[in-house]
Amino acid sequence: MYKHHSALGLATALRPVQPVTLLRPHAALRAARFFTEKFPGKSLYAVKANPSPDLLQLMWNAGVTHYYVASIGEVRLVAETLPEAVLCFMHPVKAEEAIAEAYFTYGVKTFSLDTIEELDKIVRATRAADGTPASDLNLLVRLRVSSAHSKLSLAAKFGAEPNELKALLQATRQASDALGLCFHVGSQAMSPTAYAEAMERVREAIIGAAVTVDIVDVGGGFPSWYPGMEPPPLEDYFAIIHRHFEALPIAYNAELWCEPGRALCAEYSSLIVRVEKRRGEELYINDGAYGALFDAAHIDWRFPVTALEDDLTQPLAEFSFYGPTCDDADYMKGPFMLPADIQAGDYIESCPASSSAHRTRMSRARP
Ligand SMILES: Cc1ncc(COP(=O)(O)O)c(C=O)c1O
Repeated sequence: MYKHHSALGLATALRPVQPVTLLRPHAALRAARFFTEKFPGKSLYAVKANPSPDLLQLMWNAGVTHYYVASIGEVRLVAETLPEAVLCFMHPVKAEEAIAEAYFTYGVKTFSLDTIEELDKIVRATRAADGTPASDLNLLVRLRVSSAHSKLSLAAKFGAEPNELKALLQATRQASDALGLCFHVGSQAMSPTAYAEAMERVREAIIGAAVTVDIVDVGGGFPSWYPGMEPPPLEDYFAIIHRHFEALPIAYNAELWCEPGRALCAEYSSLIVRVEKRRGEELYINDGAYGALFDAAHIDWRFPVTALEDDLTQPLAEFSFYGPTCDDADYMKGPFMLPADIQAGDYIESCPASSSAHRTRMSRARP
């Protein structure tokens, strides 16, 4: 991986044969400081969005002390990279062995769940050898909320339904030192209304279960700018979240958390690819659906693209991409706007934030 200040300079001077990731540490620092200074609570970095150790260090330097980790691989990575970081293991379905390792080896105290089975698993896995239950757990119950305002739905897989919440919250209260509620409105939430509606579900859940709640975690979903997706300023999101949080019937010292991924790392890295062939309006490039451009292929995400050539003179035209494998599925529909005279051998820079986890070893568990 090269570190270079100018994408154009890199492409024209080095003419790399392989795709190259370009890093912009100052942009990640700026994004992290924005959250640590302006979000009216605690910002946990969602490590899955980009688990690069360099980026983790940058987050720490910018004042991010808490990290949302979703696998034991991420627990190990963050604990090794940032020994003083507070880790929150927030995947609602965890292996019992992973919970035990996180708790006993890495001191992880914060877990999420959306079923009684997962609660039982956490309680079992964190018991002392003499059978004494752990008394220092922060347990966050995940609610199912709508993804209607988001570009990438997270509504189907996780989250307790309203009719399950009363029993689950009451049982979780018994097992926890601090009880929390969490949700995810879906990634790239295009309207702050998404959080207002989800906070209403939180309010109903608290009233229905009559429990004392210590943490409300509004998850990720904070949007970045992409072509055709221009969201309102993040300050609008923060204001609505704060207003709804303040009106909740929760403990006087309750904490507000969020778990941004994309919003913290979107501008950290970009990808430089080479056009290997042009067929009409289709460009064959050297990364794709099985690499860093997963989202462009699988959810038709239109990443911003720029041609890194100064001799292209024609106006922008619409292109689609094929990746480097032999599969038809390795296709990115776009449309991606590039100069009409782009050709084989030319370089393109794109910003595939949140896809980097697909190509790092830490998105998988260590053997
Ligand atoms: C539970 C949870 N929190 C936070 C995130 C980060 O979301 P985003 O990148 O939309 O901010 C994700 C992403 O999938 C998630 O599943």
